[in-house]
Amino acid sequence: MDEKALEVILVHEDGVVDHGTPLLVVGVFEGDGGSSELKGVAHTVDEALGGQLSAVVRRGDFSGREGQALLLYPRSGELSADRVMVIGLGDPARADAERYRRAAGSSVKQAVRLGAEQLTVSFPFPENGRVGPEVIIRSIAEGLILGAYVFDELKSEPAGDAKPKRVSLAEVLVEGSVPEEMEAGIRLGQVMANAENLAKRLGNLPGNIATPTCLAETARGISKKYGMKVEILGRKELEREKMGALLAVSQGSEEEPFLIVLEHRKGPSGGRPLVLVGKGLTFDSGGISIKTAAGMEEMKFDMSGGAAVLAVMAALGELELPIDVIGIVPTSENLISGRAMKPGDILRSHLGKTIEVVNTDAEGRLILADGLSWARRYDPAAIVDIATLTGAAVIALGEHASAALGNDDSLIDEIRAAGERVHERVWPLPMFDEYRDQIRSDYADIKNSGGRPAGTITGAWFLREFVGETPWVHLDVAGTAYGDGKLPYRSKGSTGVPTRLLIEWIRSRVD
Ligand code: BES
Ligand code: MN
Ligand code: ZN
Repeated sequence: MDEKALEVILVHEDGVVDHGTPLLVVGVFEGDGGSSELKGVAHTVDEALGGQLSAVVRRGDFSGREGQALLLYPRSGELSADRVMVIGLGDPARADAERYRRAAGSSVKQAVRLGAEQLTVSFPFPENGRVGPEVIIRSIAEGLILGAYVFDELKSEPAGDAKPKRVSLAEVLVEGSVPEEMEAGIRLGQVMANAENLAKRLGNLPGNIATPTCLAETARGISKKYGMKVEILGRKELEREKMGALLAVSQGSEEEPFLIVLEHRKGPSGGRPLVLVGKGLTFDSGGISIKTAAGMEEMKFDMSGGAAVLAVMAALGELELPIDVIGIVPTSENLISGRAMKPGDILRSHLGKTIEVVNTDAEGRLILADGLSWARRYDPAAIVDIATLTGAAVIALGEHASAALGNDDSLIDEIRAAGERVHERVWPLPMFDEYRDQIRSDYADIKNSGGRPAGTITGAWFLREFVGETPWVHLDVAGTAYGDGKLPYRSKGSTGVPTRLLIEWIRSRVD
């Protein structure tokens, strides 16, 4: 998708000994080489190295436990690889897609550390019935490309040789011939990971660069590249369409707000589209209900939902999936000025419902309200909105799951299953009717905050008011959209979540 992206290709195993590469990464399951023999490529490599690897395993210094890594240097003539990195894949009985994603992420990070511009990975496949070759290959491609991502475009390049190298090519070595399904796995993994990296980039770009205008330009670029219809409503059009909630949030900012709409129309005619709505709040100061200074810089990530929607649309363009999907991104800043909206203000939303603003920091639901009611015109089969909506979601689930709420349990189940498959997990919270009472207003149809208790749930109840009867799921990604980058295929900052989940879900909806 961009010229700096890591390229991943499949190669045959025959002749691993003669395969020239700056770094050969060989995966070993826990137990292999100890009680049982080393297998496959690990065995071949061990023999070429004169039994070095099996000696280390026998001594008990390498067991194949997940996360273990051992660097070996072949002597001249033993092996064409400059270096061999053996990495632990853990218990083969429990190996799943995520295991391969992580192993691939570690591999590429080792390549960066060693200054290798290329690497070759070879991982054994488990026979545990949990995961097949196509998904394994796809997960390896994802892990490699996600792990290779760095956000350094705003750092000046260090002079001369100190210039950090980028890994540009990864070979995935497989036994025997390369079946078509493996090529398909590589391709899908590439598209999904490149899309997620696009979402990460948009998330990581600071508020002075990733402005609403920048998101609109990004959407235009996607439209042009893939021949998608794009519609961008600016201030004038938003006024004409009476998008009072989105306009109110933008009132305190000099940046023009937009409602961005991208249409991927490749489904059978007459079908109802899926609609994605992403929060594109490019910087959230809280407005007059201002946030505290500590950590406020993180609010540049408040457009992560919108970034994921744009990235998914790009992936759909790449994959040419035969389905209709509309991506909607309401985008604005939430700042302070003499014109900013104030607590107590009552807005008229695009749908016509009036909203009492009791907290200007509950702005995400305001811009989404207008985005969601705009979605109605597409007569959607389902709507999924994605937003860094509440700090309460971080408290409830931390960084390991996004909160999922909605009006349709089977749609929540679909999303949950898709998230499980790509390890972008979601977990449901209840939408009992009683929670709705917290956003009752004395002066308007509804108020924009239900206070601290069950903040994620009352946020979802607010959105539900604008959705109608369409099956709908709200994903609160406040805890998952950015982080400290502990997973091997992540880095500090934006995670791009839930880009892969959404692509996976849409794929499951094809046919
Ligand atoms: N963008 C924030 C939510 C957020 C918090 C995202 C922490 C990521 C990390 C959102 O606009 C917000 O400020 N929500 C308020 C809502 C409250 C005023 C009802 C919150 O969660 O405190
Ligand atoms: Mn806010
Ligand atoms: Zn916000």
